[in-house]
Amino acid sequence: MTKEEYQNSVELLNKYAHYYYVLDDPLTTDEVYDKLYHEVLAFEEEHPSDVLAMSPTQRVGGTPLDKFVKAGHPSRMWSLEDIFNAEELKKWLVKTGKLVDDLSFYCEPKFDGASLNLVYENGQLSQAITRGDGVVGEDVTQNAKTIQSVPLSIDHLGKIEIRGEVVIFKDEFEKINIERAKEGEAIFANPRNASAGSLRQLDSKITAKRNLVFLPYGIGENSLDETLLHKRMELVYSWGFREPPRRKTTAGFDAIETVYEQMKAERDSYAMMLDGMVIKVDQIEAQEEMGYTVKVPRWAVAYKFPAVEKITTLKEIILQVGRSGAVTPVAVVEPTPIEGVVVERASLHNFDEIDRKDIRIGDKVIILRSGDVIPKIVKVLIHERDGKQLPFTRPTLCPVCNSELLDEGALTKGQTRSCSARVVNAIIYFASKPCLNIDGLGDKIVEILYKEGLITNVIDLFSLELDQLLALDGFKEKKSQKLLDAIAGAKGCECWRFINGLGMEHIGEVASKSLCEHFGLGFDKATKEELIAIDGIGEEMANSVLEFIRVNSEDIKTLEAILQPAEPAQKEEAAENPFKAKTVVLTGSMSESRGKIKVMLEALGAKVSGSVSKKTDYVIYGEDAGSKYDKAVTLGVETITEEQMREMLI
Ligand code: IVH
Repeated sequence: MTKEEYQNSVELLNKYAHYYYVLDDPLTTDEVYDKLYHEVLAFEEEHPSDVLAMSPTQRVGGTPLDKFVKAGHPSRMWSLEDIFNAEELKKWLVKTGKLVDDLSFYCEPKFDGASLNLVYENGQLSQAITRGDGVVGEDVTQNAKTIQSVPLSIDHLGKIEIRGEVVIFKDEFEKINIERAKEGEAIFANPRNASAGSLRQLDSKITAKRNLVFLPYGIGENSLDETLLHKRMELVYSWGFREPPRRKTTAGFDAIETVYEQMKAERDSYAMMLDGMVIKVDQIEAQEEMGYTVKVPRWAVAYKFPAVEKITTLKEIILQVGRSGAVTPVAVVEPTPIEGVVVERASLHNFDEIDRKDIRIGDKVIILRSGDVIPKIVKVLIHERDGKQLPFTRPTLCPVCNSELLDEGALTKGQTRSCSARVVNAIIYFASKPCLNIDGLGDKIVEILYKEGLITNVIDLFSLELDQLLALDGFKEKKSQKLLDAIAGAKGCECWRFINGLGMEHIGEVASKSLCEHFGLGFDKATKEELIAIDGIGEEMANSVLEFIRVNSEDIKTLEAILQPAEPAQKEEAAENPFKAKTVVLTGSMSESRGKIKVMLEALGAKVSGSVSKKTDYVIYGEDAGSKYDKAVTLGVETITEEQMREMLI
């Protein structure tokens, strides 16, 4: 690789990363990225003096620190005044209106994470400082560089501070906690604590692993000419920072209230946690005129959303038995409404977590529920104890089959494979969405079929007969036939669904797809070496596969003969067609599931993406198309109906 090729490769890698981490619209595969990354790394090892500061290799984290060094913010980081209802918004608007006439307001989400100030000089990230007391924070530059959505360089030479919130997306938060529970580590109470804790790691290699995301919300010291905040923020986004999921510049009580209601209604569907909407005066001159109180700007306010953390009482801890035999504790709490849903149960992960948090029956606790975040106990209010709280005793026997429980690290497991809870849960899992996706075969029905002795394993599902179902309470002809059809419909399923449905420990959807891609139905003949050679499959997973096959090879063969799963087609070059090599986005409801249309388009050589960008060639829309359609129109991306798509293929 020549120096010039190296520079071009760094630029290309940054472009790939930008599309992946900032625009959520990958341009290539992990494989292509990794190959180029390693070539860049090899060049840098040979030519250390040529390493570019913007190279993605500079994001991996460095030597652990002993402590953080304090750092002053070039200009102060302010806090925000909170308001909680429409009445208070009205008052706030009257108050600001008295200070300056004709104001318009920039509305954006209030992200729930840890604030961070990024200082750029001569286009390079020179320092990253935590908020601290707003005047002095801690220098976390090493850590900030590991955050992929923090640009290492920007297209602006003047000194500028970009302020934003470091967050952990909800799905990532759940993943980290599952991993931590498995490793016997303490669970993070909420995504905010997880991001703050990850940002303040002395070992930046740990920060690098946490998939933190930086969401910019403001600008400190700067020499920008734009006179409107929303224009300044557009500029910031154009430098490679992530855009918020919704923003609007508007004026007047009604319009602001509408944006607030929209954001509140959408909050569960956002990847990150929000705790409100921030309203800021758009005119910079007016901001300056209005100034600050001791702590907060007079030109901005946080309009909070209803809390997702509430205080309740822990009534009981019950035990759940999973399909692997793992017994997990679940908290039963005094029913508490949180954002329209009455929370009655909260996850406790494992028994160590109960000890660690010293959770006792009768305790007052803070629970969290928000969208995709599984309700959980965030904190025990120890000071509220009145002596009546009772410690919880770990079980020694399975609550369902009474067999002895063994302590297997972070998990406590029953050893009886025929334990009815295990069997029922294994069947429920087999029928679930990421496995055979059998419509109508949910928890309740599986439980009834098992209890009535009609099924004792997944194989029995396929010999169920109409008469047997009709003999059950509440099973009418139509419903029963539908269920049998759905079960029969699982035949010919994709190979990875069959593998996933087996429920091998440590093997989820991603690993099942890898196994299917590498071995097809021959996965049960793979050796340990062959398994470990697959990216993403480690020793523990390989052992689990081998052990499962050793014990269940007969059942696997029977099930395979029944299901006749479809092996992945050899990838053939698609014939010429209008969608070949095009990037398309599907939105709205269509004549068949979008999943099916996606498969069809992919077979035609199209790349089906989840989000609209300038790179999108077509947005194909059905009924009730929403924001993706609007975005396409704004960006000038061609929009076609499902019908037009089909006509283009004739
Ligand atoms: S503006 C001068 N905008 O909330 C205004 N803050 O409660 C200062 N935050 O410390 C802050 N999202 O960490 C602003 N869109 C947003 C925000 C936001 C989250 C955090 C920020 C700040 C805290 C104040």
